[in-house]
Amino acid sequence: MCGIVAYSGKNNSVLPILVSGLKRLEYRGYDSAGVAIFSNNIIYSKKAVGKIVSLEEVINKNSPLEVGNVGIAHTRWATHGSATIENAHPHYSQDKKIWVVHNGIIENYQEIKEQLIRQGMRFESETDTEVIAKLIGSLYKGDLREAVLAATRLLTGAYALCIICEDEPNRLIGVKISSPLVVGIADDEIIIASDVSAIIERTKKVIYLEDGELIDINNTTYDIVSFHNKVKKKAISEIDWDLETATKGGYDHYLLKEILEQPQVIKDSVRGRIVNETADINFGGLIEVRSRLKQIDKIVVLGVGTSFYAAKLGELYFNALSGVPAIAVMSPEYRYTKNIINDKTWLIAMSQSGETADTIAAINEAKKHGALVTGIVNTVGSTVARITDAGVYNHIGPEISVASTKAFTSQGVLLLMHAIMLGRQRGLDYSEASAIITAIKKLPDAMQEIANNHQSIESIAKLIYQDKNLLYIGRQYNYPIALEGALKIKEISYIHAEGLSGGELKHGFIALIDNELSTIALATNDSVTDKMHANIAEIKARHGKVIAIANQNLSNVDATILVPDVQSDFVQPLVNNVILQLLAYYVAKLRNLNIDQPRNLAKSVTVE
Ligand code: G6P
Repeated sequence: MCGIVAYSGKNNSVLPILVSGLKRLEYRGYDSAGVAIFSNNIIYSKKAVGKIVSLEEVINKNSPLEVGNVGIAHTRWATHGSATIENAHPHYSQDKKIWVVHNGIIENYQEIKEQLIRQGMRFESETDTEVIAKLIGSLYKGDLREAVLAATRLLTGAYALCIICEDEPNRLIGVKISSPLVVGIADDEIIIASDVSAIIERTKKVIYLEDGELIDINNTTYDIVSFHNKVKKKAISEIDWDLETATKGGYDHYLLKEILEQPQVIKDSVRGRIVNETADINFGGLIEVRSRLKQIDKIVVLGVGTSFYAAKLGELYFNALSGVPAIAVMSPEYRYTKNIINDKTWLIAMSQSGETADTIAAINEAKKHGALVTGIVNTVGSTVARITDAGVYNHIGPEISVASTKAFTSQGVLLLMHAIMLGRQRGLDYSEASAIITAIKKLPDAMQEIANNHQSIESIAKLIYQDKNLLYIGRQYNYPIALEGALKIKEISYIHAEGLSGGELKHGFIALIDNELSTIALATNDSVTDKMHANIAEIKARHGKVIAIANQNLSNVDATILVPDVQSDFVQPLVNNVILQLLAYYVAKLRNLNIDQPRNLAKSVTVE
């Protein structure tokens, strides 16, 4: 997804600062990049299709770009028009004096574009962003802030913008509606970015801009104003992520780092939230809504992608433990189920990034219907964190690799803890809650045991890495794990895979089984193990290959991957899933693919 970095300050080499910020945003996924900086009172711009290295090559051919202390930069993930130099940001006004970078989507851009064309303007790109630049240019009468504020009254849709103007050399303006924008404040400089990863290298002091706010920077001083031009006082927060946390930590890929750090980060997710004496859960972020939880009669767990499969797990947990019926809803499908939402519904929004447009749209809709809306979110200060009534953070540090791993595990554990919390209010007995809590505490050690021996999964990956199709089967709590395991291998290995319930096998999928198709079977000890063994037998009888994930060696399969037994039907699937994550990783590695940035995918999908 698109990324923004902008700089104003005393440092005269703005270019390397911008480029380094863009590199920190690479994980978001993009297909072109560009910069525009003031140099000798003129704005110069360079753009390139492809990766940041291509932009650097273009920049290095042009010496005047090297000096300057104000600039804007962008990585673009194509939405309106393909990845071309013309469509890459920054875009400029008709007279080439005002330059804009933009994240988001302008809904009424066609209409505005037609008006501007009638005024004689010419467009060079297919983007909605060029419309913003030309619009601001048409409204400019010598004061950039005035022109931008006037433009906000005409634009509808989502935007985070950074804007510079050749006639006002020390001015940088940032403005936002429905797309994130964070401002880093250091002694001699101010950096604006679409997320904190691009800022932490230079400062940990940040201001999160809210919707309908504009920051007007003049060298190193700034005003933040509303769209009505009223000055607002904003608190500066301190980020607790360091650069090291946001880098690969010595591994070849972020994905492997993020899989292997799960034992530690899951401890962080759980830390301070278990009350051992009463076998209860205490989420600080939900205290203010605790009494309202007593009135709810329905739960909707919302998410998309990996967050949806976590939501499926949450649905099962709530239905088993909480005494309140639950349903998982995929964010883009929410609008078709909204009739079941009312003021007795608890909607729990799952989003690692907190910026997924489909999830945000569904939250806004659920709020209109009076639902209590809370979040399980990783990114502090993100949109989902801000628009929900209350919520719980994952506390797992930044997840850089596009495919989500540690966030899923944390979401699963936190949903289980939500179910225990609600269950304890509604009759879940102490011993059952206590047994699950004991298993949750075993989870980090079990994952560590797998992490210590992670290379062993490569030999299993060798059995399947040239396959074209795979099946993943699981039952009950392992069913969402089968779905997530299949998604993971699709995302990073580009192998077609289907996740299904073991019980579904006979109803169609079994027609696919032959001696070329491998099935990954989740067959750890639980109340449905016998049924899973029967499914394995059905596959073997048709000469299909089976790789089982189990707590002991199975005799009738082609390979068994052993996992530690945490003795809980609820928690064991989260252990099993670590194996599926590693399997996807090693298969992608054997296939020599771009593991952290798979083709066509974006980390954070901020358009509906
Ligand atoms: C994108 C990512 C997925 C992620 C999904 C939901 O599709 O590629 O990895 O699961 O968005 O993201 P969220 O940040 O809302 O959890």
